[in-house]
Amino acid sequence: MPIPIIKPVFGKEEEQVVLEIMKSGQITRGKWTIKFKEAFKDFTNTAYCHTVCSGTTALYIGLKALGISSKEDIVIVPAMSFMATIDAVILAGGTPVVIDIDESYTMDVNFLQEAVEKYNPKVVIPVHLYGQTADMDRINQICQPRNIIVFEDSAQAHGAKYKNKPAGSLGDLAAFSFYASKNVAMGEGGAITTNNPNIDEKISNWIEFGDHPALNVRITEFQAGVGYWQLQKLPHTNKVRKKYAYMYNEEFKDLPGLILPKEYPQREHVWHIYTLRHPKRNKIVEKLIEHGIGARIYYEYTLHELRNAEHLPCEFAEAVKNEIFAIPVHAALKEEEVAYIIDTMKKIVRSV
Ligand SMILES: Cc1ncc(COP(=O)(O)O)c(C=O)c1O
Repeated sequence: MPIPIIKPVFGKEEEQVVLEIMKSGQITRGKWTIKFKEAFKDFTNTAYCHTVCSGTTALYIGLKALGISSKEDIVIVPAMSFMATIDAVILAGGTPVVIDIDESYTMDVNFLQEAVEKYNPKVVIPVHLYGQTADMDRINQICQPRNIIVFEDSAQAHGAKYKNKPAGSLGDLAAFSFYASKNVAMGEGGAITTNNPNIDEKISNWIEFGDHPALNVRITEFQAGVGYWQLQKLPHTNKVRKKYAYMYNEEFKDLPGLILPKEYPQREHVWHIYTLRHPKRNKIVEKLIEHGIGARIYYEYTLHELRNAEHLPCEFAEAVKNEIFAIPVHAALKEEEVAYIIDTMKKIVRSV
């Protein structure tokens, strides 16, 4: 059996909650939706939380609530992310401007300084990519004096911390995803968190048939029940991910040509994706797959290339996309599978 790049871990609690909800007949807008929402608010240390049907929807609704609607509304995004980060801006009607990333694979704040001066954006979306937060103090320091809203894309960062504060509470608002691969998985789902009552009110109007037309973006009780238990288990599953990531770091540190992920001080990584770089990436990925290891590339294209978007020079991201690849790091992995991945990686990297 091949080792998949992603696999959620479900146990008795998730099984039981799904059955309980089915038997109760209350399959939407019930106690689990409320329970999950409350738990997620506490977990992210925020005052307001709305659950929605996906991370893309969370980004889109957040941007609409912030008033993004016309081409003059500029939103800064990093060059390396899942396409939803830029697509939400385009769908909302705004203009994305893409800037480079740094060695942390998150937004390079030096380019942010240049971009805010040149483009006068309304919103900046730092993405906490692969499970590590962006440099939030420096981003806030650039944005706050200019009244630019900071909208965290926390889709890959459940439980990640910056200076001991959780992702989701580090800017003005945040979007999360609970897609099947995520550290908290419901199949599909998302959330928007904020501490700002004005932003919260505007979000409510976009999702609860308020004072203008809105969409139905609700999750079901099944998703909320599963999500609730996933959240209770997150400290454990994140610990397992970290253990495997640290094993890889140790075992791969002397492999020729391989660049390991960098964990920055005061940024607690939750190892959503374990990314490496190597000049012979394509060969390595091909061989890993041949050996039954689900290696994948996150991401093959930069966002400005993907959507032909306005951008500052993005040399680092454009180089990284040709070298980057990921190997499985999820909590469903068994120790012997991790040992096999380590062994196989060593043989392949030494032979390419
Ligand atoms: C960084 C990032 N942003 C946004 C999303 C969109 O989330 P979803 O797939 O739930 O729409 C994802 C994940 O898929 C993501 O990884």
